[in-house]
Amino acid sequence: MSDSVPYLDLPAQLRAIRSDLDQAIARTIDKCSFCLGPDTAQFEKDFAAYIGTKHALGFNSGTSALHVALLLLNVGPGDEVITTPFTFVATSWAISYVGARPVYVDIEDGSMNLNPALVERAITPRTKAILPVHLYGHPFDLDPILAIAKKHGLPVVEDACQAHGAKYKNQTVGSFGAISCFSFYPGKNLGACGEGGALLTNEPAFEKRGRALREHGSTVRYYHDEIGFNYRMEGIQGAVLGVKLKHLPHWTAERTRVAHRYHELLKDTPLQLPAEAGYARSAWHLYVVRHARREELKKHLEKNGIGCALH
Ligand SMILES: Cc1ncc(COP(=O)(O)O)c(C=O)c1O
Repeated sequence: MSDSVPYLDLPAQLRAIRSDLDQAIARTIDKCSFCLGPDTAQFEKDFAAYIGTKHALGFNSGTSALHVALLLLNVGPGDEVITTPFTFVATSWAISYVGARPVYVDIEDGSMNLNPALVERAITPRTKAILPVHLYGHPFDLDPILAIAKKHGLPVVEDACQAHGAKYKNQTVGSFGAISCFSFYPGKNLGACGEGGALLTNEPAFEKRGRALREHGSTVRYYHDEIGFNYRMEGIQGAVLGVKLKHLPHWTAERTRVAHRYHELLKDTPLQLPAEAGYARSAWHLYVVRHARREELKKHLEKNGIGCALH
């Protein structure tokens, strides 16, 4: 049966802002600014200001932003990167792309994010970086992980691909690490009309080399200083994201209201509900419940027209 409560009602979101999107896309077409272009440049400024970093670079996906993040940190063959096994596979791909090895550290039961208490013992002389994930929109516990990283002189890359607008102790996630990466896959809290991603940093050298790496390793046309990639954000996606970013604070507040309503209505059921840690304000990308009879529960929800998925 078709879902009376869809898993994600993207058409409803698009309907509400459709004329602004149409105008932004038409403007991009009129200007033929299809690759990066002025709307992407404006979005980069606005998104950096929203997250609280000096620089944001538009990419064609979160995966490519993560790849370039590790290249900027000179992670390469033989190196190790500490990360979480409980994430979307692209977090690990980035580590594999540069020839390094993902070293998996187990997660905490509550937030389901990297367990800070287990990180230090996983550090070896080959460790080059720590790459935790703010999964489902819930921040990982930044303070202890940043402290361990500082003690060992390791950079932290935040995989914030699911956590646009989430806060850790009142500061927006994506503004803590040496580098942070976001995805604008259409179903994300801030989604493009296609693929998209961003790499954020305060470090001028990362900004400069990051812009080059996403554009064939080039800062001056036809001069290629190192092997680069075509990882540019499309102009149309920059224009779309610029329109949508203005709505993100309100959308996040609505997600939070709905999550709290779910808490209330589901509190007396046998479901294990998602817990928000004291330090966290989740962006509520997903509302993930746990139950011992998962498959049966999923079938039951589907039978009753309630969209759900396994994550
Ligand atoms: C945690 C996480 N990391 C990385 C990615 C990759 O982003 P993209 O799909 O934009 O390449 C995603 C996207 O689903 C994600 O959820």
